[in-house]
This record gives sequence, C-alpha cells and structure tokens, in this order.
Amino acid sequence: MAESWSSSVDAHLDWDPGSGRTGIAAAVRAAIRDGRWRPGAVVPSTRALAHDLGVARGTVTRVYADLAAEGYLQTSQGAPTRVATAGASPQSAPPMPAAEPAHRWSFLPGRPDPSMFPRDQWLAATRRVLANAPNQVFDYSEARGSSVLRATLSAYLGRSRGVLADPARLVVFSGYGHAIHVLGRALRGLGIAETAFEDPSLGKYRDICAASGQRIVGVPVDGAGLVVSELDSPAAVVTPAHQFPLGVTMAPARRTALVDSGAVVVEDDYDGEFRFDRQQVGALQALAPERVVYAGTASKSLAPSLRLAWLVLPRFLVDPVVAALHELGAHPPLLPQLALADLISSGAYDRHVRRCRLEYRARRDRLVAALPAHLTPEGISAGLHLVLRLPSAAAAAVPAAARRHSVGVELLSPMWLRPVAEPGGLVVGYGATARNAFTPALAALVEMLTELSP
Ligand SMILES: Cc1ncc(COP(=O)(O)O)c(C=O)c1O
Repeated sequence: MAESWSSSVDAHLDWDPGSGRTGIAAAVRAAIRDGRWRPGAVVPSTRALAHDLGVARGTVTRVYADLAAEGYLQTSQGAPTRVATAGASPQSAPPMPAAEPAHRWSFLPGRPDPSMFPRDQWLAATRRVLANAPNQVFDYSEARGSSVLRATLSAYLGRSRGVLADPARLVVFSGYGHAIHVLGRALRGLGIAETAFEDPSLGKYRDICAASGQRIVGVPVDGAGLVVSELDSPAAVVTPAHQFPLGVTMAPARRTALVDSGAVVVEDDYDGEFRFDRQQVGALQALAPERVVYAGTASKSLAPSLRLAWLVLPRFLVDPVVAALHELGAHPPLLPQLALADLISSGAYDRHVRRCRLEYRARRDRLVAALPAHLTPEGISAGLHLVLRLPSAAAAAVPAAARRHSVGVELLSPMWLRPVAEPGGLVVGYGATARNAFTPALAALVEMLTELSP
C-alpha cells in the first residue's frame, strides 16, 4: 500500500519560520540526509506541508522543484513526489553499511544454533526475576553491571574456567566489542596506546580497539599460539584456548612467556565452554590475575543478540574501566543480566551448555567425516568452527561457489594483518544452522567444497 501524508502528519522538519524558502529547503535536505525522510518515501503534498508550516503553497512547490533538480527528490507527472532512492540520491547522502549476503545454509563462524536457545528456561528465569525483584530494579542501574550477576558469574567462572574472579573486579558489558572499546579507552588514559592482536584475528575487534584510540599491530600465530618472542607492545589481545580463526591451543611454555612478557594481556575466552577432545584448558588469567584481563561472552553459549559479555580485570584497571564506561554513557540493561544470573544459579545454564557441547561435537564429527579427501580441517578440537586451507585459485572461487550453493562461509584472507604467502582458506562455522536443517546444510556445503577440488 502506498504511503500517504495528510496535513495531520507531523513532517519532522527542524525549520526556523524566519528562514523562508532556503530554510525549508535546508530542513528537507537535512531530513533526507539523516534518514528521517527515507529513500522512496512519498513526501508530504505541497498543500499539506504548506499548511503545516504556515507558508504559501507556491513556496513549497518551488522548494520541491529545487530539491528535485538537486537530486534529493523524484517527481513525475501524475505521481506523488518521493524521496530519491539510493541510485538517484545526491553524493552527500549517508553511506549505508553493506547488507550481509543472503544465503540459505549458514556456516558463518562465531554463531551458535539459534534454535537451541533455552526459551523455556529463559522464560522461567525471567518470571522468577520479575516475581521476586524489588522495585529498584526498574531504576537506573549500576554501570559496572548487576551485583547479583557479578557474584554469580564470579562463582561460575571460578568453577568452570578456573578464573580468579572477585565480583569487585568483574564488569558487565553489551558484548565483547563494547568491552574492548571501553578497555582500550581506559588503557589509553593510563598511557598504554598500542595493542597487539594475533595475526590472523577478527578485523572487527581490531577496528573497534583502534576506534578507542589504540594503535593496532599484528603478531604472528604458529602451531603453539601467539609467537610471544615477537610481541613488543604494552598490551596484547589473545584467544589462548582456541585461537580465532586458526583453532590452535596456546602451548604451556607460550602461556608462561606471555604472562611474563610484562604486557597487559586480554584473554578472549569466546568459546571456552566448547572443548571436545581434550581436558578443558584452564584460563590463562589464573596465572597472573594482575596482568591478565579475562573476557567472556554469552554470544556463543546462549545468543549473540543478548549482547552480554564480561571482563574480569586486574585491580589497577577497575576504576579506569568504570570511569570510561561512565564517560561513554551506556551499559547493558539490567533485566537480562538478572535473568542470566538466575539461569546460571538454577543450573539450567550448565545443562544447556552440556547439551550444546554434545550437539556441536556431533556436528563437528559429521562435518569432518563428510569433507572431500583433499581437504584437511584445522582447529577441530574445540569451539564452533574449523579452518580449511585452500590453494589461492580455489579460495578465489569461493564467493561465486558459495552464492551458487546458497552457503554462508567466511574467507580466511581478510583476517590477516600482514601480507602472507598463502592466506587462502575458509572458516566454517558449524553452530549457526538450526539443528533440524543441519543435514541438508551439510550436503550443500560438501557439494560446494567438492566443486572447489583441484
Ligand atoms: C573471537 C571472538 N571473540 C569474541 C566474540 C564475542 O563477541 P560479542 O560478545 O561482541 O558477541 C566473538 C563472537 O563472534 C568472537 O568470534
């Protein structure tokens, strides 16, 4: 149905009545640039807008004609005037982020199965929270996070990951990206302005850290994890339990060398719950709680849309991080924090993680067994993804093949900071597909991979 405007519709123009025709034109341009008047939308009729603004209809007619000439509006005989669509918009229109490519079968790394979210348990936890919480839970909440969640997480992280987590050192964030940004600002305030990332690693977090004022450098990763002898920065972000993306586990000697390096270490334990073949690898943080920041997230164990993550901080970083949180003025909402705390203390979270671990291990086994013979998976002992190295020609053919088979995968090459000889490969996430679609999804992936055979 076509959108229509009447004189009763508020056109949301920031307009100074004394500014005349040029002022109206400027207000319409601003409304289009900042998206209040969206591309393709029918604009108010000249009669309606003139009525709303208290000006002559002819004034609005001339403004619309000028803006059509400038490319902001589209007019055609007998049809309502519309805001120009992307192709026709002026250069100054804000760029929109590229949409994620649509695909039927998702093997995107870093995503858990959304169909396994424990809806009933979350609902029960939320009900209990609402039934028992005092009225204060609807007031402004503490920036560092709910004291109930911080106490619950500190016990959980100690028990499940060996983290030395005093609740006073635990801060809750709206996801790991938020955490790394706030931490970057706090470190910069302390004179630490360069952060090393593993090379390869996820560009997204390097960019977020850079936006916080940190200079980013890459340090290579080999079969034993970060090559600590090449680390020369005052801060380093690592994924020691299951390197993202290569999947290696940091060797004990490297762990010791890293905490002895003098750098502030951020231990991103993004998928620490999902270890399949060997004993759990305890958190690095326990080796040096005054040098290592432990980072955890609910994005893999529950759902990325919850936007809940946490840092366990060395004591010297607690006040600077909380101050940086206040400066930025945003922290996660309280009710989901209380629901998560209830989920953990009721035991439902542990049961859910165990169920997911079995599911993802079974998927990992099926995927490894189904791979074409010429492909050797790497990083399979943990987590929700594995890596397949490909010769350059095959890697270059991936985007087109993925489109043909409607498969979502990520390329390895953008994850490198430095130019490397053979960066080609795929990062395949086997968590993202809903359980009941895994069989056809796997068939589509394997067909695509077979097509990439040398
Ligand atoms: C390497 C790594 N670290 C951390 C995270 C968690 O990020 P967030 O809590 O912002 O969802 C992810 C999720 O994709 C990840 O892949």
